[in-house]
Amino acid sequence: MLLDVRDLRVEFRTRDGVAYAVNGVSYGVDAGETLAVLGESGSGKSVTAQAVMGILDTPPGRITGGRILFRGRDLLTLKEEERRRIRGAGMAMIFQDALSALNPVMTVGDQLGEMFVVHRGMSRKDARARAVELMDRVRIPAAAQRVRDYPHQFSGGMRQRIMIAMALALEPALIIADEPTTALDVTVQAQVMDLLAELQREYRMALILITHDLGVVADVADRIAVMYAGRIVESAPVHDIYRAPAHPYTRGLLDSVPRLDQKGRQLYAISGLPPNLTRIPPGCSFHPRCPLARDVCRTDDPPLYGVDDGRSSACHFWRECLHDRDH
Ligand SMILES: Nc1ncnc2c1ncn2[C@@H]1O[C@H](COP(=O)(O)OP(=O)(O)OP(=O)(O)O)[C@@H](O)[C@H]1O
Ligand code: SF4
Ligand SMILES: [Mg+2]
Repeated sequence: MLLDVRDLRVEFRTRDGVAYAVNGVSYGVDAGETLAVLGESGSGKSVTAQAVMGILDTPPGRITGGRILFRGRDLLTLKEEERRRIRGAGMAMIFQDALSALNPVMTVGDQLGEMFVVHRGMSRKDARARAVELMDRVRIPAAAQRVRDYPHQFSGGMRQRIMIAMALALEPALIIADEPTTALDVTVQAQVMDLLAELQREYRMALILITHDLGVVADVADRIAVMYAGRIVESAPVHDIYRAPAHPYTRGLLDSVPRLDQKGRQLYAISGLPPNLTRIPPGCSFHPRCPLARDVCRTDDPPLYGVDDGRSSACHFWRECLHDRDH
């Protein structure tokens, strides 16, 4: 396994007390594989990714447990300098908001070129040529001229392509894309997503795609990990999840997506709100919102039960969920 996150725990000190943002997350990706990470706002998707990338805000954040194995080495034990090297050439991240991720006072050509100068020891001239190639590769029209432009001179979709180019520059084995298209118009979203998926196949990179959007997941992901209150509550090959979710929360997420084959059907919304992370409910943290909850759910925290090959669910009643297709 290329990346193997085991039992990761992250806390934040806040004015309200300790927020338990990540509570024993385990997930992994193989080379060339795409893992989609789903879950409502605040479920710990980004914090987990930041811990993997080594860019967590510490303080207020603190990693209190777990391991992050990349090519078998635990990143949490490495020195910052080694970590930085891996961040450049081993893994890269694409953020939601390119405008704040890119340097506003540097041309995109210089920013892209800098990757080659710093990490590959290239001359400025060669680096500039590579920058143009990359911009071509992510289909930015008139790349040879546009290398001299600044980030604010590009549209949102084009900026996102530049960020993809930055992430690809050193041909990392793993890319983490955190809501890469959320800030874009719907039509542009699809183009950027298609481009990312195409490049991932071509470069055979592993991709962790963090998203709210179950619509895009079916087309691009191999596996899905669903997060709730800082935990993985279901993890499965993508087709299994679409066929029949094994966790009521996953079912709620799926049922709240409009489907072409079920026009006119009332859309379902998961009732209630995600928990306050300083006061996560005892037992199953989803129980206050769960249509299947019963007494044991209020007291006993469900472990991740093995459902099937490569599939697990943190629900005491996963069998029921799996077989009950209409709530
Ligand atoms: N810098 C921070 N300071 C304090 N708490 C934080 C900080 N960053 C994250 N948290 C806590 O961690 C929780 C999880 O945050 P995270 O950003 O991982 O959510 P997410 O699943 O990525 O949500 P979204 O879909 O909105 O991006 C937050 O609800 C918050 O309580
Ligand atoms: S363990 Fe209980 S509350 Fe939690 S998801 Fe399953 S049925 Fe719902
Ligand atoms: Mg996030």
